[in-house]
Amino acid sequence: MPKSVKIRKAEKPLAGTFAFPGDKSLSHRAIMFGSLAEGTSEFSNVLEGEDCVCTREAFEEMGVRIERLGPGRLLVHGAGLRGLKAPKKELWLGNSGTSMRILMGILAGQPFESVLTGDPSLCSRPMKRVTTYLRQMGADIRGRDDANFAPLTVKGGRLKGIDASLAVSSAQVKSAILMAGLYADGRTSVSEPEKSRDHTERFLKHFGAKIGIRGNTVMVEGGQRLSARRFEIAGDISSAAFFMAAAVLVPGSGLSFRSVLNNPTRTGIFDVLKRMGVDFSKSGEPAGDTGPEPVIDFSLKPYPFKAFDIAHAELPALIDEVPILCVLATQADGTSVVRDADELRVKESDRIEAIIRALSPMGAKISAEGNTLRIQGPSKLRGARVDSRKDHRIAMSAIIAGLIAEGETVVDDVECINTSFPDFFELLQRAGAKYELIDTP
Ligand code: S3P
Repeated sequence: MPKSVKIRKAEKPLAGTFAFPGDKSLSHRAIMFGSLAEGTSEFSNVLEGEDCVCTREAFEEMGVRIERLGPGRLLVHGAGLRGLKAPKKELWLGNSGTSMRILMGILAGQPFESVLTGDPSLCSRPMKRVTTYLRQMGADIRGRDDANFAPLTVKGGRLKGIDASLAVSSAQVKSAILMAGLYADGRTSVSEPEKSRDHTERFLKHFGAKIGIRGNTVMVEGGQRLSARRFEIAGDISSAAFFMAAAVLVPGSGLSFRSVLNNPTRTGIFDVLKRMGVDFSKSGEPAGDTGPEPVIDFSLKPYPFKAFDIAHAELPALIDEVPILCVLATQADGTSVVRDADELRVKESDRIEAIIRALSPMGAKISAEGNTLRIQGPSKLRGARVDSRKDHRIAMSAIIAGLIAEGETVVDDVECINTSFPDFFELLQRAGAKYELIDTP
């Protein structure tokens, strides 16, 4: 039964100190690298959202033994780069673009054939951006529309290194090519217009591979090995972003954040908040071994804030935060702009259209001209019925908007939140927000 949530305007300030489940991008990569390493890796604070469960089950299907020691704790018995076994059934990747695209790169190097598939949203997202390069490397990939759409059949084999120059900055595409590069003869390089999140590069180094980085170009030699590691996954900055917005939107609130991922290729939201004039204070040096990725503790308070202008080149460092930044923009002084955000059209939903459709009935002044979003603030929001489009980040953005809207907001189809942030409602309640989950009528 589909679920909806009813949310009322917050009557009291939100408060508390929050740590977040492991970052989704890092959790996928931990499972992948642990599976391909030699030896046994141990990870804590691994995200147990549906997307990462799909990655885990895909590797289990290929013979990797993964033990769950407790909530978020995984012991991954690595099979080595050459130790995966042919899957006996299709690999189901649910809603997860990261799983599908990076796996395509890994599977391109395997001496067997596999089929990758997922839900209707994933099967309508463009895969040609990966297929093209993997074919140049020597993989045989088949699927609808010349292998642009899943289900995809990937027949791996002997690969050769290539020099790929990406038209669009994408960590998923870059990662797929780099992972395939580990299996290729010679050197593989990937260049992108702007640097996208560099988790794969950090993981490659941390797991013992040698790579070269020059500007926005990454190079890897084939024939290397990965060695098992043990670390805690940094808290998900993209999940924390919803609480960061709530902290500055709900009057009188004071929220503290612990061990949030602090990688400069992901912290665009910190830069935007600082530019908006938000009271952002670093509150200490976090302890613990978060392996290849730095973390930060900080706190946020509500403050009158200014509109923002986000240039196209800044987008890779905050691409998943645009929907919640639009919610913040509704309360900022002036017109906020997000420029040429083409990539938002091909996320879990068309996020330009989805966020306009979500916030307009609530009274936001939000529009798009081509792929540029404009939000005029401040405007008084009112409760409305919102369609999440089965997109987790649209659903959570609308719920946070509901905390400052007069009356009651109902957000439909909120189960999608489980793909990235199964603890969302529990943390929201802990912060002091009131909501009610109901069956969608
Ligand atoms: C991700 C990369 C980004 C991001 C996605 C996760 C990753 O996508 O939107 O949520 O883990 O590599 P693109 O690489 O397509 O920009």
